[in-house]
Amino acid sequence: MLVYKTKVDLVDRINNLMQPDFSLGFVPTMGALHQGHLSLVKSALANNNFVVVSVFVNPTQFNSSSDLNKYPRSLAKDIKALETVSKDSILIYAPEVEDLYGSKIKSESFNFMGIESLMEGNSRPGHFNGVGTIVKRLLQIVNPNKAYFGEKDFQQLLIIKKMVEQEGLEVKIVGCPIEREPNGLAMSSRNGRLSPKEFHESAMIYEILQTVKQKFSSEDIASTCDWVLRRFNNNPLFELDYFQISDIESLMPIKEKIPNKKYRAFIAAYIGDVRLIDNIDLN
Ligand code: PAJ
Repeated sequence: MLVYKTKVDLVDRINNLMQPDFSLGFVPTMGALHQGHLSLVKSALANNNFVVVSVFVNPTQFNSSSDLNKYPRSLAKDIKALETVSKDSILIYAPEVEDLYGSKIKSESFNFMGIESLMEGNSRPGHFNGVGTIVKRLLQIVNPNKAYFGEKDFQQLLIIKKMVEQEGLEVKIVGCPIEREPNGLAMSSRNGRLSPKEFHESAMIYEILQTVKQKFSSEDIASTCDWVLRRFNNNPLFELDYFQISDIESLMPIKEKIPNKKYRAFIAAYIGDVRLIDNIDLN
């Protein structure tokens, strides 16, 4: 499978391949691919003639250089994984930092109506400016008809939809369901850093989310939140970063349910030095 290292070569190839009635799908990733990523690629292949998969560890969305340096990089393995899905309909774009940033590794500043400062944005200041910057740049280069993002990063998905609207980009953003390990843990490139015991214990996160979903219809929000805090306090392996129930448009935490609104529960927690996030739809 061919890997394009520069945007010029990639765009050249796309222009040669595409016919007027063809559709191009796009799946941006930071590599270290797992079945969660591959499920996005499969959805994209089912609905487009060709699919570009980018593999790029974006420096501007990391809060510390040690976090950036620790991020797993495994391009040769990623290529093999993508080949198991399709040998001739995927184009891999795996550039160096200069190809996307030139000599200025800097984020644009976006305003996403405050959504960028909640949850992941609060715990990781500047993170969503970095995500917005790179996804905008990638969408402008690839110019796909549809781009696929996981609900695992639900806040990111919402922010990208807002960015696309604000920037007037002509692409349909498609959200895809969360792929899980057999024990329920949401698949993540970070799961490889968990010890067998931590991996086993991490099943608690999804168990809690499923119980929150059951409680949502019958109990009030405050007592559900208290219950979640107690579950985390009782397990010394975990440190809870945040738990909240939010409406899916503003992502603002709620105290009361309003009829006809849609809600989701969100968790971020540390187990050792590995930070895990997960979420579930509630109604
Ligand atoms: P990365 O963490 O590599 O994830 C790439 C895509 O895979 C994202 O859309 C993410 O939500 C999705 N994904 C990850 N785990 C998943 C799972 N278990 N089930 C379903 N989808 C899953 O997210 C990023 O990279 C970056 O921020 C990026 C958008 C590429 C910008 O740099």
